[in-house]
Amino acid sequence: MRHFLIVGILVVVAAILTYVGLDSANLMPVAASAQAVPIDEMWNLELIFMSFFFALIVVPLAYSLIAFRRKKGDTSDAEHMEGNTKLEIAWTVLPLFIVIAFAYVGAVNLAETRRVDPDAIIVKVTGIQWSWKFEYPPYGVVSDELHLPVDKQVLLQMTSTDVIHSFWVPEFRVKQDLVPGRITELRITPTLEGDYKVRCAELCGTSHAFMEKPVVISSQGDFDEWMAEQVKLAEQAAATPGGRGQALVAANGCAACHSINGAQGIGPTWSGLFGHEVLLTDGTPVSADEAYIAESIKAPQAKIVAGFEGQLMPSYGFTDEQIADVVAYIKTLR
Ligand code: CUA
Repeated sequence: MRHFLIVGILVVVAAILTYVGLDSANLMPVAASAQAVPIDEMWNLELIFMSFFFALIVVPLAYSLIAFRRKKGDTSDAEHMEGNTKLEIAWTVLPLFIVIAFAYVGAVNLAETRRVDPDAIIVKVTGIQWSWKFEYPPYGVVSDELHLPVDKQVLLQMTSTDVIHSFWVPEFRVKQDLVPGRITELRITPTLEGDYKVRCAELCGTSHAFMEKPVVISSQGDFDEWMAEQVKLAEQAAATPGGRGQALVAANGCAACHSINGAQGIGPTWSGLFGHEVLLTDGTPVSADEAYIAESIKAPQAKIVAGFEGQLMPSYGFTDEQIADVVAYIKTLR
């Protein structure tokens, strides 16, 4: 009985210390959305149970090693035991109830993270190898940054042009896959103004690790200002072919592979490309004129530049007009 009492006290103490240690380790980033609240509650509940079971297993084990070690000169066998039905029923039924309780709490919290606000703003999100595109339908604005006003639910309607990506802002806690040919939804109510980052949480190829874009949560006033600026920029850009091309390039994440500063990436740089000669994989030189660049956008595998074998640029399905705009933009990159 004395052993049970000592072990019981030690288990409680070890459980509390483990929980305090884990809790103060700041395992989670700051919570910045309404959806983070039920998730963090669930997480905290799990930490408590984890700490308790950790102590329940490790403390009696360590205690037995010390308290019941063989005495010097004792060569007798241990006492024979035939099992313990009561104990077996207890350790089967108790965990069953704990798991059912967790399933219930989990379901309630999951429903909480999906609670629908009928006034939610809609933003269309497209995942592209390896970038993000955000469309704001009411404004006709396309951006590669996600700007949102604080304390307003946003409904993200998401899809992918190529492979499966996953939208993840750790501070918002919730996460959702983007699947080609399908629209998936995610609701977020940002509650804390600040600069965050969306990252891709699904291994999607060479530059998966760099598939990040800024997420800016601001006051409604700052958001409206940013949006007005975007609308103005879009109007200005739409007036010239080069401007339209630049907007297309930004919206489709071309910079994930093609730099405009001469740095070699996954694909050839666009800096100083126009009007210069490039060497193809078979050694033939080709002049990078309008026809060549247009062909390389339309049928990326037709002529591959030496050194970029094996990089499979997708065809983005641009219209001839859009391709002409992109070519006009590339022409400006001297
Ligand atoms: Cu997209 Cu990983």
